[in-house]
Amino acid sequence: MTNGIFTVAILGVGARGGDVYGKLMKKQPDKYKITHLCDMRKDRLEYYGELFGVPESQRYTNEDDIFAERKADILVIGTQDNDHIRHAIRAFETGYDILVEKPLSDNEEECLKLLEAQKKSGCKALVCHVLRYAPAYRKLYEIVNSGILGKIVSINWTEPVAYWHQAHSYVRGNWRNTDIAAPMILAKCCHDLDLIQWFAKSKCRSVSSVGSLDFFKPECAPEGAAKRCTDCPHKSSCPYSAYKIYWEKWEKSGRPETGWPVSAVCQEPVKEKEFLNALENGPYGRCVFYCDNNVVDHQTVQMLFENGITATLHMTAFTATGGRRVTLFGTYGEVSMYDKEKIVVSVFGKPDEVIDVSTLTIDSSYGHGGGDYMLINTLYDMLMGNSAMETSLEASIESHLMGIKAEESRLAGGELKLVHR
Ligand SMILES: NC(=O)c1ccc[n+]([C@@H]2O[C@H](COP(=O)([O-])OP(=O)(O)OC[C@H]3O[C@@H](n4cnc5c(N)ncnc54)[C@H](O)[C@@H]3O)[C@@H](O)[C@H]2O)c1
Repeated sequence: MTNGIFTVAILGVGARGGDVYGKLMKKQPDKYKITHLCDMRKDRLEYYGELFGVPESQRYTNEDDIFAERKADILVIGTQDNDHIRHAIRAFETGYDILVEKPLSDNEEECLKLLEAQKKSGCKALVCHVLRYAPAYRKLYEIVNSGILGKIVSINWTEPVAYWHQAHSYVRGNWRNTDIAAPMILAKCCHDLDLIQWFAKSKCRSVSSVGSLDFFKPECAPEGAAKRCTDCPHKSSCPYSAYKIYWEKWEKSGRPETGWPVSAVCQEPVKEKEFLNALENGPYGRCVFYCDNNVVDHQTVQMLFENGITATLHMTAFTATGGRRVTLFGTYGEVSMYDKEKIVVSVFGKPDEVIDVSTLTIDSSYGHGGGDYMLINTLYDMLMGNSAMETSLEASIESHLMGIKAEESRLAGGELKLVHR
């Protein structure tokens, strides 16, 4: 660090590493300077290398180069689910402080090894549980902590994924199959488990879970459906059609150099020919009923915490929009949050107080209700030793264990599992 500016290397310069964290860091030159990039994809290295002003000699395609020696103060790990643990452990061994994407791992032993590696290295780590930093969730936390609801007794938490998001990420995309990614309960819901654990303020004693993949499979395809949306008679009527989710969205927006999810289909700057080619031949143009997906489209988890709090988590693909819906029930009141809209505080016997979430958000253009932006600020505070940090590696691993045990329970038909041995 020189003059309060930390140098940054990014491993995995994709939607998160490049488009979110890289761009947010670039906007704060008084805090961060991106100096090194590593990605297997040369198109991304070139695009983000130019955007962030990283010289070609400091762009790598092989991860070994980033771990040959410590190249910067921090390593941002934005690679895929199954790589995080290897990259985080190698980063600690090389002496990097890290910002690491979730989920850390879907394996209990690996999670514990990671903790050990951090302790041994003395390096700092921040896990990208972005919602803990989002103003709406901080407000909810403040309300619960104020005591006006009495003692929290139970929690009801819904994660409505949204039909198009499920199709994009968990049917056609990177998180569709547990051979290549974490199961849904970690890939999507590790944020939910992290938040529930944060609100419960206690270790989780036991979990049980049920859920399955019911809809996105061949027997549910409409009659005459083609294997690719571009050839399909239903392409203009099926809500899951790639043509509707990506192409129509791009057309309607006036074809700007648009961000996610179009940027996942075709590298920006998006050109018509490449975009059409990606829909005709790439993974995101496949019919949702004929993909190689196996992750669930709905799942519920029941939790019992050591302090007696009970919680239920319900994840479903089948919602019109995203935005978590949660209620915390206390002995003297309840609070509900629709995280994109409002918080309703109901103290028993008093009129409701309604808080408009849009008045809390820093800027609606920042992802996760401002959480992405706040995470990058918190990272800076952590590096400077001002611990405004809401989450630690230990806390993150605690909620990962809940997810790991929930998935074990689901695969065992809902059997009760203890979270700690
Ligand atoms: N915190 C959040 O809210 C949030 C939101 C979405 C995704 N994620 C997580 O972020 C991670 C990245 O997701 P994404 O959408 O940015 O994916 P992405 O595919 O857009 O980016 C990953 C990048 O890593 C590169 N890469 C993978 N392995 C590599 C290796 N060994 N060496 C060099 N480069 C490598 C890929 O080429 C790709 O460019 C995932 O684990 C995902 O679960 C977190």
